[in-house]
Amino acid sequence: MLDPKDIEAIRAEARHYEDPKAVGVDAMKLAQKRQGWIDDDTLHQLAELLGMSATELEGLATFYNLIYRQPVGRHVIHVCDSVSCWVCDYDALREALKRRLGIDFGETTKDGRFTLLPIVCLGACDRAPTLLVDGDLHGPVTDADGIDQILQRYE
Ligand code: FES
Repeated sequence: MLDPKDIEAIRAEARHYEDPKAVGVDAMKLAQKRQGWIDDDTLHQLAELLGMSATELEGLATFYNLIYRQPVGRHVIHVCDSVSCWVCDYDALREALKRRLGIDFGETTKDGRFTLLPIVCLGACDRAPTLLVDGDLHGPVTDADGIDQILQRYE
């Protein structure tokens, strides 16, 4: 459920726009920042707050890669799964991460520390292969030592 402070912040932001739906993604990001992911109750509450249907907001959540509709770990790793990274050893990075974490895409480590997800081009093709951890861009990530050094930063 939404925190009253978040409701007030979303209402204040929505007042800047003719159509409150314009803040749909930002509203979900705000709620997610507090609770880690967007559950069904929160989605419905947000939709009502913004004068849109839950289906419309769900569509926005599904389209936007950084909104989570299922619980995630304390840290979310997004591995770039697009063409420039494919040709720069993406396969090795993906497999090394899966081995290191003991999980596949869409899964969370047993200790709740990391969730591993694919994502489309991060706009940093010159640094391929890339990954994002909690919004921090890393690349090129080309060896197991590099992966370990990155993961160590996120407890
Ligand atoms: S394809 Fe990976 S950053 Fe662009």
